[in-house]
Order: sequence, then C-alpha cells, then structure tokens
Amino acid sequence: RQSCIESGTTVVITRNPEEPECNVCSADGPDPTCHATELTLTKSQNTSLEFSCPKPQDVFSVYIKKKIDCTETSCAGDIVQAESSLFPDFNRTFSWDLKVPATRAFRLDFPEPGMRQIPKGENCPDEHTYTIVTYLRSGPAIIGKYCKGGTVTTIQVRYKGRMLLNVPGDRKLEPLDFKLSVGPETDSKCCSVILERLSRKMSVSETDFVTANYPDSFPDDQQMMWNFIVPGMHNYTVRFRDHTAPECLNKEVMVKYEKEDKKVTQLTLTDPQPEHGQGNVNMSLFNCETNKTLQGLTLAFTVSVMRSGHPVLCTVDLTKKQGVSLQLEKVGADPYCEMSIDSVVKQKINVAMGTKASLSFLDCPNEDVRLTASKDIGKTFCIIGTLLTVPKLDSCLPMPLHSFTWLLSIPEHGTVDLESPTGSLRQSLPGQECNGSVSLHVAESDGFSIGDFCSKGIIRKVQVHANVSVTATGIDFAKKRGPFLNVSFSEEISDRIIYRVTPKMSDPALLATPNWPQGMKPSTTVSWIVTLSNRYRAAVQFLNVSQPKCGKSHTGIKVQTLGSKEEMFSRREDEKKEGELTVPESFYLNMSNCLPEEGHFGAVTKVVLEKKTNLLAIALGIAGALLFVLAVLAVVCYVTKKKKKGQMKTESSIYITKGNIFRPGDRHFSKARSDNDSHVYASIDETMVYGHLLPDSSYADSMEDRFNGMQVDSYQTFTGPSDRGLPVIVEPDADPDKDQYKAFLEPSETFIPSRPRTPIDRQDSLGFQDRRMVDNELYTFKSTGEINTIRLSGVDLEPEPPVDE
Ligand SMILES: *[C@@H]1O[C@H](CO)[C@@H](O)[C@H](O)[C@H]1NC(C)=O
Ligand SMILES: *[C@@H]1O[C@H](CO)[C@@H](O)[C@H](O)[C@H]1NC(C)=O
Ligand SMILES: *[C@@H]1O[C@H](CO)[C@@H](O)[C@H](O)[C@H]1NC(C)=O
Ligand SMILES: *[C@@H]1O[C@H](CO)[C@@H](O)[C@H](O)[C@H]1NC(C)=O
Ligand SMILES: *[C@@H]1O[C@H](CO)[C@@H](O)[C@H](O)[C@H]1NC(C)=O
Ligand SMILES: *[C@@H]1O[C@H](CO)[C@@H](O)[C@H](O)[C@H]1NC(C)=O
Ligand SMILES: *[C@@H]1O[C@H](CO)[C@@H](O)[C@H](O)[C@H]1NC(C)=O
Repeated sequence: RQSCIESGTTVVITRNPEEPECNVCSADGPDPTCHATELTLTKSQNTSLEFSCPKPQDVFSVYIKKKIDCTETSCAGDIVQAESSLFPDFNRTFSWDLKVPATRAFRLDFPEPGMRQIPKGENCPDEHTYTIVTYLRSGPAIIGKYCKGGTVTTIQVRYKGRMLLNVPGDRKLEPLDFKLSVGPETDSKCCSVILERLSRKMSVSETDFVTANYPDSFPDDQQMMWNFIVPGMHNYTVRFRDHTAPECLNKEVMVKYEKEDKKVTQLTLTDPQPEHGQGNVNMSLFNCETNKTLQGLTLAFTVSVMRSGHPVLCTVDLTKKQGVSLQLEKVGADPYCEMSIDSVVKQKINVAMGTKASLSFLDCPNEDVRLTASKDIGKTFCIIGTLLTVPKLDSCLPMPLHSFTWLLSIPEHGTVDLESPTGSLRQSLPGQECNGSVSLHVAESDGFSIGDFCSKGIIRKVQVHANVSVTATGIDFAKKRGPFLNVSFSEEISDRIIYRVTPKMSDPALLATPNWPQGMKPSTTVSWIVTLSNRYRAAVQFLNVSQPKCGKSHTGIKVQTLGSKEEMFSRREDEKKEGELTVPESFYLNMSNCLPEEGHFGAVTKVVLEKKTNLLAIALGIAGALLFVLAVLAVVCYVTKKKKKGQMKTESSIYITKGNIFRPGDRHFSKARSDNDSHVYASIDETMVYGHLLPDSSYADSMEDRFNGMQVDSYQTFTGPSDRGLPVIVEPDADPDKDQYKAFLEPSETFIPSRPRTPIDRQDSLGFQDRRMVDNELYTFKSTGEINTIRLSGVDLEPEPPVDE
C-alpha cells in the first residue's frame, strides 16, 4: 500500500491489542522494518506498507494527527479539513491539536447544519463522531461529543484543546468543514462557551445538555457557559433533569443567568430555574473546590423553546354548507406565522367540503394568510338561473376572504350561460381593465382562462360548453356578497364559447378571443353573435391577430350575417387579407383555432357602429313622399267632395311641390320649406318604425306596393307628440288656388271634412303640427275619431336626398 501524507500530518497505525498478531512493515529502503503494534508515518517518508495478515483493517486502527498552532500565526478563519484519501478501509481517528495564546480561547464555528451534543455511548447516525477535549491543569476534560446537525454553532475553548473525529472503516469520510479562529481574551476560569442558536423551528423544541465530562464529575473550580440565542416570539424554559452536587470545600456551586439587559439571576442547583423567559440568555455553571473523594458535580438539563404568542383558534364547520370548501395559504414572509389544522402545522390548509376542522393561527398578521373559498355547485344550478352569491363563512376566521370560486359542471348535452344580474358584462382587456369593480375570472375546469369580466359592457351573455370556474376577487365580501352572476343551463352549443354582444354607438366593441392576450385553447371554436339594431351597420376591424404555425387543421376567422347562409369574410392563418369589412346587419363572428405547433391564436376585433344612411334614407324619403301624396290626396279629395256637395269651404286647397307642402298665399311657409329640404319626413326617418315593412332589398318597390294596397294602418304608431301647445295652423279666409288640384280629389269622396289650418310662425317652429296632415291621415286610413299628429320636425334630421314626385 502506498500512502501520501501531507506535511504536518502524522499517521499512526496501531494494532488493537485484543486482535490477533499481525505485523506492519514499511518497505522503505532495502531492509524493511516491521512493527508488531504501532507504526508512525510522517510526510518525509514516501512509504509502502506491507501487512502480514490478510485483513489488516480488522486489526489496525489509523490515527491521523495534525497540530494547529495559532500562538504565532493568526489562524483566522481557517477551514479545517480531514484528509479523505488516507486509509479509507481502516477505522480512522482524525485529531487536531489546537493551541492559541494562553489568555485566549480558540473558537470553532460549525456551519449549517450545526452540531448536537450526544450523551456518552450514543452514536451519530452518519457514524462521524466529533469530540472536543480541553486541557486543564487538572488534566483533560471532555467538553462534549457531538454529531452533525443541531443547535450548537460555536464552541470556544481556552488555550489548548483537541478536536477528534472518529470514522469507522469502510465509511466514506464526509466531515463537516469547521472554521477555526482565535477567540477573545478569556477569564482563566472559563473553560468553554457554547453558543446555542436555539431552534427556529415553529413548534416547541427541546434541547438536552450535559456538563463537561458527564456522567463523570465536572472539573473542579471551573466554569462552563452556554450562550443561548433565543429567536424572537419564543419563550425559553430551563429544566434540570438530573444533577449531583459535590461537597464544596471552598466557594459554592451556582448557576447564573445573564440576560441581554445585563440583569443577572443567581440560583442554586435546587432553585426553580427560569420559565418563559424571553430574549437571549447566558447560563453559566460554576463549580466549587470539591472534596474529590465524594461524588462530584454533574448536571443534565433541557432547554425548551416554545412560541410566546397565544394562538387564535377557530373551528370551521362546513357540514351544513353544501359544496363549500376553504383554502388557507401562507403568503407572507413572516417566519413566525404558524398556521395549523387539527394541530398539524401547515403552509397550506384545505378544509374539504362537508368537514369540520380546528384551525389555529399563531402570530399571523391577517395579510400573511390568504383565505379563499369555493363552492362546487356541480349541476345543481338550473334552467331558470342560479344567482352566484357568497355564503357566510364562520365568523371566527380572523382574515378577510380574498376570493370566492364557484365551480360549475355542465350536463352531458348542455351549456352553461353566464349573465350579469345587472344586465351586461364587460371583458377586462389590456387598456380596458375592470378597474375598481368586481372582477370575475372565468376559467375552464382545467384552469385554462377564458377571461376576466365585470359588469356593464356590451356582452349580454357568455355561453360555455365546458365545466367552468368563476372566481370573484377584489371585493370586500363583508360588504358585498353578490349576486355576481346569473348562471343557467341551456342547450348544447356547437362552439366552445359563444358571446352574445350588443355593441353600442357610444362604446366601440372590442371582442377578444378567450384568454387574450394569450392564445385561445387549441382546437376550439368561439363565436360572437353580434346583434345590431336595424338603424346601424357595423365596421369590423381585426386589430390584433396573432396566428400560430398550425400543426393540424387551420385557424379560421369568419363573418356571416345571421340571415344568410354564406360567409361574408373568411380568413385562415396562411392567408393575408384586409382586416376590415362592413357588415350591414346582425352577424356571427366565428373564430377557430388549430392545433398550434408554434405560437398561439388570438385576436381582437373592433366593431364600430355606423348609422345607416344612403339607401335607407332614400327609401324613407320616398316612403315619406308617398305618404304625403296620399295624405294630400286625401285632403284634396275631401275638399273636392265638399265642394261638390256645395258645402266646401273655399280655403282648403294646398299646393305640392318637391315633396313640400305650402299654400301659395303663405310666403313665409313656402320659402322656409323650399329653401331647406328638411321637412315633414324628418320624423319618419326611423328604421325602427318602418323596419318591419321594409325587407332590405327591393324595399322602395314593396313600399309602393304596400301603399297601393293601402296597408298603412301601422303609421299610427309613429305619430308625434300630441302636444296641444304647438302652434296650430290657422286657416286663411281665402285661397285663390282652391280649384287647382281638383283633379286629384276625385277618387275619394267619403272624407269627412276637417278644416286645414295655417301655421303660425312656422319658420321658427320646428315642432309645429300640421292639422291637415293629421286629420287627413286619420280620416283617410282610420275610421276612428281619434286625433293623431305627425311632427313636422327637422330635429335630428339626417341629410336627405330630394324626393321627386
Ligand atoms: C473499528 O470500529 C468498530 C466500531 O466503530 C469496532 O467494532 C471495531 O473493533 C474497530 N476495529 C478496530 C480494528 O479497532
Ligand atoms: C453572553 O456572553 C457573551 C460573551 O461571552 C456576550 O457577548 C453576550 O452578549 C452575552 N449575552 C447575554 C445575553 O448576556
Ligand atoms: C411567554 O412569555 C410571556 C412573558 O414571559 C407570557 O406572557 C406568555 O404567556 C408566554 N407564552 C406562552 C405560550 O406561555
Ligand atoms: C337568470 O337567468 C335566467 C335565464 O336566462 C332568467 O330566466 C332569469 O330571469 C335570470 N334571473 C335574474 C335574477 O336575472
Ligand atoms: C364536467 O364535470 C363533471 C364532473 O363534475 C364530469 O363528469 C364531466 O365529464 C365534465 N364535463 C366536461 C365537458 O368536462
Ligand atoms: C395590439 O398589440 C400591440 C402589441 O402587442 C399592443 O401594443 C396593442 O395595445 C394591442 N391592441 C389592442 C387593441 O389590444
Ligand atoms: C358561426 O357560428 C354560429 C353559431 O355557432 C353558427 O350557427 C354558424 O353556422 C357559424 N358560421 C360559420 C360560417 O361558421
């Protein structure tokens, strides 16, 4: 065997005298020297060894000794390491002889995980046993035996000492690298200071200590000190387990406790020791000069450290709260906050539905524990709608509820419909966040987000064909418990998600794919059913479209009006297309995702309402003109008839030009009306009113048909306000043109006459009523005597093309 020994290291190979004989020979030079019991090797010898027995490791032990003298050199913070290469299969004892100037102590620092004292006879789990020995005038004394892992972080020993590490054969050497330094000046009596950084563990911890040489007597007239570092929020209690007192020839045995505030408590071995002390404390044991013929001083004691605070207890009973479960999670950094369920300390607690649990919170600021709750509604919500409200939780819970989640499961062929009890929902989008109000996070049961919603927007309903969770956050649940959503079941839908939206003129709609700005779920479809009033059309713009590289199938964006079977617009991820179109009526916007290989699919679509003008306005103009013609006809007929009967008043005829009415004698009127073409039709430009009469395309024609067929009863519905305060047309006494239109009057002879009136100050009165119209309409198309009016108002009138007769 070849060995390489570092300088300053001495290796001694010793035979256990009880083992059978065996020689060890060093094969240096021509004549090997053999030894029967012990061989000492140093660096100077580059040695090969020969053993005369087959298994020398069963017979010999190896001592690897090193001297570290810090009297001359500084030794500041040297890491002391054992040489792992030496004699790995032998029992090894590493020994370091440490020496510092006589008035000082050497200091050994043990890095994490620290050391733990063990009683004599006990072994360390890793079979690495450390022993610290001090050399006193009276002889060596063992300060203690230690294993890796414990609360001892530092040991200081005066002047001279030895550290031993025992490792059995075949055990791989894994020593603690400890740090050596020269400690402070020490009292000549002080043999050791042991720094105990007591457990930072959260529950009660107990640490056992014994005096030097235990169970043998503590050295005479010596002192030992333990420096206990007690963590904050903890109380310590010292308990003497076992002690023997010597007979003192001189001085006394005493125990002294010194606190940080320098307060010193001096006690005897039999006094009650401190209980529930707080803060760091130094405990010193002083021995007297003893009668050595009798039992000496021994002491075994325990220091227990426990939390100083008193826990807040809360029993949560969920047995009567169907489907409700609670979750508590430590989110704060406070290491002292200790949370437990049924006496088990946990970082996260779940109180399952239908159970009861005892919770305890120790020194937990409310903001350090996040309380969330959820309710599994399952399929128990129904077609008529279930309102999502937050149930009252046990009031002993000290922290506020952070969020509440409802879990909804759909039946096999069903869809869950989400509606806001206030009427509409808004999706929180970048730049359009739901700030300040209740935020509802909707996700699929696998956690895939659909989006965050709040109330008051353009979304009337969100339908999801998947199990979903709805989480309400950002609310003081003590003040507002809901209802936050109205959920109901409906028939199965073909898409994953359908949003029913009604954009508003004031509020351009941004329609974002689920999970925006991240991508929507692979291989799913989403559809928006965008409802427009007949008055509007929509400008649809694809603002932000992010397209993936598709592995399977394609992504699709399609627009289709509700009425038609054909798509207006269609785009795949591999197509480049203009991102803008105009849709004349309510429509579907459908998007589908592929199975992306790379990237994701997502889009934001902007829908801006535009008032419909051109065609409709023309059509309405025509309609209005026709109406007028009819009305005028009616009047003329009536007048004619009256005249025929010889009862006719002379002033009844009127004059029609360019869709206007004015009486030739009334210059004011004619000028005003003919100069600007904003006139009677204004109030008729209401698609809402005419809509049902006007199928989109050939609508002027059909209008005519309807007029021809006299199916115009419905015009009653848009009579203007019948405010009597409006100026009334006063009939002039004479009308020179009274017979001019006689020809028109022929068809209708059944009219009951009503006196046409002349407007007063018509120019300024936009809301003036023309009694002639009213009455004629009435008597023409209705047989009742009810008086309705049409407003001849120009307010809100859109530019209108001239109407030709
Ligand atoms: C080596 O140590 C073990 C226990 O650790 C002991 O049983 C054995 O006798 C020792 N061997 C020698 C040669 O001392
Ligand atoms: C304990 O003693 C050490 C010196 O050995 C000193 O530094 C420390 O402040 C003392 N601690 C207390 C709590 O008195
Ligand atoms: C810890 O000690 C303080 C004062 O010493 C005491 O008020 C408190 O009740 C103690 N804590 C426990 C858990 O006993
Ligand atoms: C909830 O939704 C259902 C289905 O749409 C509806 O019938 C019910 O009136 C709604 N309830 C409330 C309070 O909004
Ligand atoms: C929804 O959840 C129920 C269980 O709660 C499960 O049986 C069902 O398969 C789920 N449905 C879907 C579409 O994931
Ligand atoms: C579109 O995307 C760009 C860049 O990601 C972003 O700055 C912009 O705000 C987005 N627009 C909308 C409407 O989300
Ligand atoms: C768009 O989605 C709606 C609703 O799911 C569906 O009825 C319609 O057929 C779809 N249109 C296209 C072009 O995919």
